[in-house]
Amino acid sequence: MNVYSTHRLCTAPMLDWTDRHFRFMARLLCQNVRLYSEMIHANALIFGNRQAFLADSDTTHNTAIQLGGSEPDALAKASQIIADAGFVEVNLNCGCPSPRVQKGSFGACLMRSVDLVADCLNAMMQQGQAEVTVKHRIGIDDDEDYSVVCDFVGALSHKTPCRTFIIHARNAWLHGLSPKENRDIPPLKYDFVYRIKQDFPDLNIVINGGIAHNEEISQHLQHTDGVMLGRGIYHQPMLMQTWDKTFFNQTHSALTDDDLINRLYQYAVQETAQKTPLRNIVKQWLGLFYGQNGVRLWRQTLSDSTQLAKNNPELILLAFDKMKSFQVAVE
Ligand SMILES: Cc1cc2nc3c(=O)[nH]c(=O)nc-3n(C[C@H](O)[C@H](O)[C@H](O)COP(=O)(O)O)c2cc1C
Repeated sequence: MNVYSTHRLCTAPMLDWTDRHFRFMARLLCQNVRLYSEMIHANALIFGNRQAFLADSDTTHNTAIQLGGSEPDALAKASQIIADAGFVEVNLNCGCPSPRVQKGSFGACLMRSVDLVADCLNAMMQQGQAEVTVKHRIGIDDDEDYSVVCDFVGALSHKTPCRTFIIHARNAWLHGLSPKENRDIPPLKYDFVYRIKQDFPDLNIVINGGIAHNEEISQHLQHTDGVMLGRGIYHQPMLMQTWDKTFFNQTHSALTDDDLINRLYQYAVQETAQKTPLRNIVKQWLGLFYGQNGVRLWRQTLSDSTQLAKNNPELILLAFDKMKSFQVAVE
């Protein structure tokens, strides 16, 4: 039996990155990590191509879909679709600062409308199967006080049955910073998240922001129930391969590089047969061998647009072969 928190380790939702192809790779690297989709607007799920968002090749047992939106009815419908598809969690985005998202009145600006967030979460819970959680910041604009995030969490835990709060430990500045700058410039205040756990010990508190190494994860786990990593695993996906053993005390052996490529190849054969562009399938795998000799050949071969346009999965084997041959030559 797994005695650890369901959110002990999580991959962060990342637009244009943590799609179902990424999730396929991540699940091969770590069985226990809670995976998050990129943010999907509730209406895109209701009226758009659901399959493209939800057709996970892996089981959905440890995967969450993140929703954007602020209309309780639409969020309720989208949550039902997600629960029916078998995902275990639906997460509401209250942390995205992008101007487009602000214009739609959702994302980080919802931190100023806690009653509406409560209505949204309660509506999302009507489906009754998947856990409903929220991801947010510690404040917006020039909020400096701990009381902002404390009041937000306190109100939601009082007005809704939501018990899991994923907290990006910096403010969102809604004016003058790009979304990218908003992930780096507002200062990180991990102590605010630690205090939330102290003040609400019964809640499941997950910390996020600027965490990239296992030593840091271990430190945060002394103060919170879970840790979420975004760019750390985006740049070095193999970090996830150490997690089942290091953080979940599991003894199964990690897949070898050959096994991983074999699984990717089989997956790409199935996907390209359904006309999925090879470019989309391999994009997240480009960083897999970060730090290994010959990784440049792996990346170059799988980034060659003329070759990718042929949509032939053999390109994966060729890229791996080139990297391995280089390694043999230099050893
Ligand atoms: C390319 C990219 C896209 C992102 N898209 C989302 C998103 O769709 N939803 C969300 O809640 N956060 C999004 N984020 C923010 C991350 O989930 C995370 O909160 C942030 O990157 C801080 O964590 P990190 O320092 O571990 O990367 C995105 C971040 C990146 C780098």
